[in-house]
Amino acid sequence: MRGEVLNLLDFEMMSARHVKAVAGIENQSFACPWSEAAFEAELTNRAARYIVALEDGAVVGYVGYWRIFDEAHITNVAVRPDMRGKGHGRRIMEEIMRLAKSEGVSAMTLEVRVSNLAARTLYASMGFVSAGIRPNYYEDNGEDAVIMWCRF
Ligand SMILES: CC(C)(COP(=O)(O)OP(=O)(O)OC[C@H]1O[C@@H](n2cnc3c(N)ncnc32)[C@H](O)[C@@H]1OP(=O)(O)O)[C@@H](O)C(=O)NCCC(=O)NCCS
Repeated sequence: MRGEVLNLLDFEMMSARHVKAVAGIENQSFACPWSEAAFEAELTNRAARYIVALEDGAVVGYVGYWRIFDEAHITNVAVRPDMRGKGHGRRIMEEIMRLAKSEGVSAMTLEVRVSNLAARTLYASMGFVSAGIRPNYYEDNGEDAVIMWCRF
């Protein structure tokens, strides 16, 4: 286990007051980040669920999915760069899996860059298995995506 595992996070469903901070972390985390407007639109998407992790009231991470029948497709997950390696990513994933199960979801899927070893290791340790490759999936550099599934 690297770093210190903190259990001081609070979890809330994302609401309008969180969107600016979420978009800020998104911007620091991805080559092709979603905009603030994109996250705002998710607040009224009936298929979407987003959770924010808060420490002392500040957003330190988030995760979301689109529910499609009994499947949950993870759209984004990120931890604020200065807060990584402390167990927050794992706690955030545990929380979204708990929410999905409580909604009757039976399987969760996501795409991850082949080069993103931190995320791939996290997902694998939580029961996600690789199910294939989407070639040239990422527009910025043409990198392949690994498709991963976790069946509950
Ligand atoms: C992926 C991400 C959410 C992980 O969050 P985190 O808070 O740093 O992760 P944690 O501290 O909870 O680590 C959980 C596990 O992930 C893996 N992991 C995390 N960072 C790692 C690294 N740098 N190298 C290898 N494995 C790593 C380990 O298996 C770790 O478990 P361990 O501590 O028992 O070894 C974070 O790195 C991030 O926001 N990255 C940028 C956005 C991103 O790539 N999102 C995923 C898109 S698919």
